[in-house]
Amino acid sequence: MSILSGKNILLGITAGIAAYKTASLVRLFIKAGANVKVVMTPASKDFVTPLTLSTLSKHPVISSFTNEDDDNATWNNHVELGLWADLFLIAPVTANTMSKMASGNSDNILLATYLSAKCPVYFAPAMDLDMYKHESTNNSIEKLESFGNIMIPATSGELASGLVGKGRMAEPEYIIAFLENDIVKGLPLYGKQVLITAGPTHEAIDPVRFIGNQSSGKMGFEIANAAASLGAKVILVSGPTHQSINNNNLITVIPVVSANDMYIASHKYFENSDIAILSAAVADYKPKFIAEQKIKKAASTLNLELEKTKDILASLGEIKQQQILVGFALETNNELENAIAKLKKKNLDLIVLNSLNDDGAGFGGNTNKVTIIDKNENSINYGLKSKAEVAKDLMDEILKQFNA
Ligand code: CTP
Repeated sequence: MSILSGKNILLGITAGIAAYKTASLVRLFIKAGANVKVVMTPASKDFVTPLTLSTLSKHPVISSFTNEDDDNATWNNHVELGLWADLFLIAPVTANTMSKMASGNSDNILLATYLSAKCPVYFAPAMDLDMYKHESTNNSIEKLESFGNIMIPATSGELASGLVGKGRMAEPEYIIAFLENDIVKGLPLYGKQVLITAGPTHEAIDPVRFIGNQSSGKMGFEIANAAASLGAKVILVSGPTHQSINNNNLITVIPVVSANDMYIASHKYFENSDIAILSAAVADYKPKFIAEQKIKKAASTLNLELEKTKDILASLGEIKQQQILVGFALETNNELENAIAKLKKKNLDLIVLNSLNDDGAGFGGNTNKVTIIDKNENSINYGLKSKAEVAKDLMDEILKQFNA
């Protein structure tokens, strides 16, 4: 999942030949899960048609203050458009539009929207090399940067004039990557590493059989998404599950099978982590001996000797330094008391309690109902929510601890 997913992106297009690339840009935004609206200067319509852009963005394209197709001539509200946007990208932006932006001229709807926008503004210039080098263009760029607008610089190459030099609009893929990086840098967990364990473990009995449990891994995968959407680099140590991460370069999945594999992987990444959230349903016991060959059926009963697995959470609690350590507790009786005892015993900062007595909580389903308890035994009860929402609530609580 891209960090642009769910974001409202306003794309402003001005009259440069690079405007033809905006069709790809809109497609890439949509592919990333963003909502896109397009505002154009009247002259830019000679380079790319509003029909192409409205079809790709699934929204009407606005290029004048009034809606000309309408008999009653309705007003296009640039203020509303500016407020709707989480991000305003003007690409390509010409020397002419940059100069108008810098001086507060608002003689078209794109410029009026620019003056009303409260969100971050990015601009990707495109022009001929001598125009790009001109001092007045540099002055405009400096002025826009002094307003806090962010430039996505032009690149070098062959220009529409046939000359070769700097002035080509950055490629759409580069623009998307630039925006993603810039947004991530501003997020509260940027530069932090979060270790998460998820899913069940499988403890081998023989080459074809194992002891497992019903954990789906959903909760842990949702926590990984929630942590990444706060800008964190996530190491997701996952037991065997059917879950997958949808194209998110902040999340690295480390697949493991047994409790011992999970122990080794968790210890490998813990030292450099700032936060560790152990949501996996780790087997408490494993077969003492793994049969080398498939066990044949013989006697009417079969005894398996089990031994304890290592408690990953407790072992991390013992070596914990600056890390915020979060555990889960699945309880059936004396829930709060048991969860607090677990939090203290395992040296945790937070524990997430799910009670099997609550409908819709726990393994398998898409929902969960949790209570989050901190070291001072303060607890917050949450209602029944989707696991994605529970993950967001948990990350909010962790952020509070992190900033405390
Ligand atoms: N956990 C772990 N390693 C284990 C067992 C559990 O890291 N070998 C972690 C789980 O990921 C969870 C927490 O410990 O975050 C609580 O696990 P739970 O099974 O509820 O508690 P236990 O400590 O095993 O105690 P009990 O089963 O007796 O309730």
